[in-house]
Amino acid sequence: MAEGARSALRWESHRRHFEGYLEGLRFTGEPRLAGLEEAMRYSMLAGGKRVRPTLCMETAWVFGDEPAHVLPSAAAIELIHTYSLIHDDLPAMDDDDYRRGRPTAHKKYGEAMAILAGDAFFGEALALITVHQKAEVEQVLEVVRELAGSTGVNGMVGGQVIDMQQTGVGDDTDPETLHLIHKFKTGALIKSSARIGAILAGAPEAEQAAVSEYASELGLCFQIVDDLLNATATREELGKSAGSDAEQGKATFVGVYGLEGARRQADASEERALAALSRVDGDTSGLEEMARFVRNRGS
Ligand code: IPE
Ligand code: IPE
Ligand code: MG
Ligand code: MG
Repeated sequence: MAEGARSALRWESHRRHFEGYLEGLRFTGEPRLAGLEEAMRYSMLAGGKRVRPTLCMETAWVFGDEPAHVLPSAAAIELIHTYSLIHDDLPAMDDDDYRRGRPTAHKKYGEAMAILAGDAFFGEALALITVHQKAEVEQVLEVVRELAGSTGVNGMVGGQVIDMQQTGVGDDTDPETLHLIHKFKTGALIKSSARIGAILAGAPEAEQAAVSEYASELGLCFQIVDDLLNATATREELGKSAGSDAEQGKATFVGVYGLEGARRQADASEERALAALSRVDGDTSGLEEMARFVRNRGS
């Protein structure tokens, strides 16, 4: 079998195992909290692309680990990502009513429940790692440290804050601020996803650094393409609103660099991601395929 076909099968296997694991998660036996659990499962089982958890699993595989070993941490990452989407869609933020092909959490369950479902995801993510992730204590601590860093002030939440500050400024955003938004709001968690796979697989320091550089570029490329798709695709294709960035005056690569400029930046970022992989001693064909997928999705 050709290498490409093998890695495609592996991604499919990661995705299948991951969906099964997520489907099996229950958060409470308390009947009074059935509504909260329902709201959480509504958002988490709505069929996202699962880029972050499968990236975590594939990275673990590259360094010789069994992908199923990292499932609790991979699920924790996806729960945190899902929380970030629920909050991102709230009226106080992007005010979107459509996500993952269905009404947003606050449209379906109300704002209070949506906020609390997001909050609960964060706690449950920590529980998954600290209760269910089998690893050395030092590795578990490192995974928690990694996620704390990539979701906090100098990570996802900080990126969302700068994104909000620049809403309305849009195309006049300076390139340095724009890069910081993308690096923080999206890049940090994607980078952590790969790093967590490497940490749990016990990858050597130098290779962890190379994978970090790869995933950091992957995260940037991912958000540039998200900007491109918001400008060029339809709501039906995306399963979420389209054209909203320009309407709301968001700071995007398309606004600042134009469509062609944004495409070139995405290409350059993909190239840098692939170049970083050359420093990894292992079968990186799947990670290469992920970089191509991230760059070319929706096109
Ligand atoms: C959407 O992320 C939000 C961004 C960070 C761009 P994804 O495009 O990974 O969303 P899902 O998980 O597939 O729904
Ligand atoms: C979402 O960014 C980033 C996070 C949720 C952290 P956007 O607001 O640009 O993404 P979409 O288009 O709503 O998915
Ligand atoms: Mg947003
Ligand atoms: Mg949004």
